[in-house]
Amino acid sequence: GIDISSLLKATGYVTLDPGYVNTGACTSAITYIDGEAGILRYRGYPIGELAEKSNFLEVSYLLIYGSLPTRSQYEEFADRIRRHTLLDENLKRFFDGFPRDAHPMAVLSAAVSALSTFYQDSLDPLDPEAVEISMVRLLAKLPTIAAYAYKKTVGQPFLYPDNSLGYVENFLRMTFGLPAEPYVVDPVVAQALDLLFILHADHEQNCSTSTVRLVGSSQANLFASISAGIHALSGPLHGGANAAVLEMLERIKAEGGNVTEFVERVKRKEKGVRLMGFGHRVYKNYDPRAAIIKRTADDLLARLGKSDELLDIAKELEEVALNDDYFIERKLYPNVDFYTGLIYRAMGFPTKMFTVLFALGRLPGWIAQWREMVNDPMTKIGRPRQVYVGEPERSYVPIDER
Ligand code: ACO
Repeated sequence: GIDISSLLKATGYVTLDPGYVNTGACTSAITYIDGEAGILRYRGYPIGELAEKSNFLEVSYLLIYGSLPTRSQYEEFADRIRRHTLLDENLKRFFDGFPRDAHPMAVLSAAVSALSTFYQDSLDPLDPEAVEISMVRLLAKLPTIAAYAYKKTVGQPFLYPDNSLGYVENFLRMTFGLPAEPYVVDPVVAQALDLLFILHADHEQNCSTSTVRLVGSSQANLFASISAGIHALSGPLHGGANAAVLEMLERIKAEGGNVTEFVERVKRKEKGVRLMGFGHRVYKNYDPRAAIIKRTADDLLARLGKSDELLDIAKELEEVALNDDYFIERKLYPNVDFYTGLIYRAMGFPTKMFTVLFALGRLPGWIAQWREMVNDPMTKIGRPRQVYVGEPERSYVPIDER
């Protein structure tokens, strides 16, 4: 029953914890992780069971509202999302202004930020109805924005959503379809992407989710908070790792495919050389998502009748690393990003889109966490302290006397 933060405040002490390695910022009933045992559960349900039996929209409902939907709740939720997939034509024109080689993560975040300018009458985070419609709009429109961000990079026309299709199918068609040609969604691809979205849907207080909560703690609106979260996700130490893994595998292949030599460079800690897709702040065991994704990569490539030399390199890397003392001592295992890029590549996505796909999957988690924060009476504006190490007081020196 001791309130440590009040105690420290009263004594004037500040806890210094760079990277918040051991600092809890909230209580949460959404996601449970046991990093030592490699366990991940959403609202109590093991990730493996959800991956096998559920679908992404159902998992989104579960994360946001706390329980699995009845059939009618599910259909109503899916229907509401389906009816909000269109972008305002004015927002669509935003895409014209970006350069063709704009990074789709930057476009995604900018467009989400811009959404708030179109829905100014429903932004109040303290109004449950406004929050409800904002959540629906975001879930509905993010795939459209993501597909347009891709179309922009390849110079193809934008397709309007086809609301006779499912959530993932609609996104695939808007991404890869062309106006003059009927696009048939490959169910194998749609199923694998849906599965990946489930596996990415939440991961408690990671960097982007903490960003979403921190921005939201000032009572900034949901679009502003999610836009900030997308930027946080873009870094190579977070969601950007899925693209960085592929670039690493390509580099190893281009340099002759010598995996052992690369691992030695990692161990020597050469500047900028890390085994991307390995290691995790919380998991000190095999990331349960990585195990499922590895199987999916094998399965998808086989079902699409493709082989990928990079998958062979990845497997060899994993094998070498898991048997090496450097990685064993530091408890470094493959994380969620190690095999995802290979799957996205087999589906036809360019590397620049990989982190956008992560964002699409993570969206319901961000929303659920933001909503939990807004409804939590314990919430205060996030405001970390610091330990000042700069100059003591000194007097101003006029410019000509310095
Ligand atoms: N390759 C080589 N060495 C590593 C790696 C890695 N991928 N990850 C950690 N280490 C080493 C560190 O050098 C350090 O060694 P030291 O004690 O000799 O100095 C030790 O393991 C601990 O590492 P930290 O950096 O302190 O661990 P932290 O918890 O701060 O970082 C992180 C976690 C950022 C995920 C890190 O493991 C990393 O950079 N991994 C590669 C990037 C990546 O895959 N990110 C995706 C994470 S999952 C996600 O966001 C979805």
